[in-house]
Amino acid sequence: MSNAVARRTSISDLAAKKRRGEKWAMITCYEQMMAEVFDEAQIPVLLVGDSAGNNFLGEENTIPVTLDQIVMLSAAVVRGSRKAMVVADFPFGSYEKSPKQALATGVRLFKEAKVHAIKLEGGKKVVPQIKKLIGAGIPVMGHLGLTPQSVHALGGFKVQGRGDDAARIMKDAKALEAAGVFALVLELVPAELAEAISKELTVPVIGIGAGNGCDAQVIVWTDLMGLTANPPKFAKAYRNLRQEILSGVQEWVSDVAAGAFPAEEQTFH
Ligand code: KIV
Repeated sequence: MSNAVARRTSISDLAAKKRRGEKWAMITCYEQMMAEVFDEAQIPVLLVGDSAGNNFLGEENTIPVTLDQIVMLSAAVVRGSRKAMVVADFPFGSYEKSPKQALATGVRLFKEAKVHAIKLEGGKKVVPQIKKLIGAGIPVMGHLGLTPQSVHALGGFKVQGRGDDAARIMKDAKALEAAGVFALVLELVPAELAEAISKELTVPVIGIGAGNGCDAQVIVWTDLMGLTANPPKFAKAYRNLRQEILSGVQEWVSDVAAGAFPAEEQTFH
């Protein structure tokens, strides 16, 4: 086995993909073993999303997720991966107050979890935070459209940027690019708007529920693998892990009840 350290995906690798017109995938990840699997699948970017709230921590949405939780999950994902860039989400309440607060959050994630970039939600109003982070050497991914931390202000999980609202999202996207984000997530926006923004920006645009015209796609891994009980409409389940795990566990439970587990192969003498 080689001792060579694998090189992780960098922000310039992603910029080069956009120049070449090469589409790529980003996936959420909340723990070490899934990080190992996704790394083996050559997924270039793992997102420790605050979607951990409703997909890992049993919360109703992303709002209660704490910075301590994101630090712990991100550290596990960094330890489980060798080649992927690991991006940690800034949770609600960890950056809105001031650029100074955002920098303190970024520094914790860089020093304690050793992530390679961060993501935060919002448009023009978070530009000062973005500039402060980038000035300190912390690459920032933006997030526009349906921003789940503002779900109550937006009146629910609804498509954003229809009609006149499209101009506002386009303006925010340009403001984030001018502030220096290396990539932008667009969530739950009309496909036509997402495609127009992807063409307008020089940085990669990563869609989720934003059609097929983006430079990349991101998905919550539990939606993709059929573990989520009620997945959103824009997700396609490529496997049914919920059923697979359920039937495997039921088989083991009945083997235990029947005295068939452990068998001779699992026994020491
Ligand atoms: O938290 C998350 O998983 C996200 C993606 C849905 C983009 O922000």
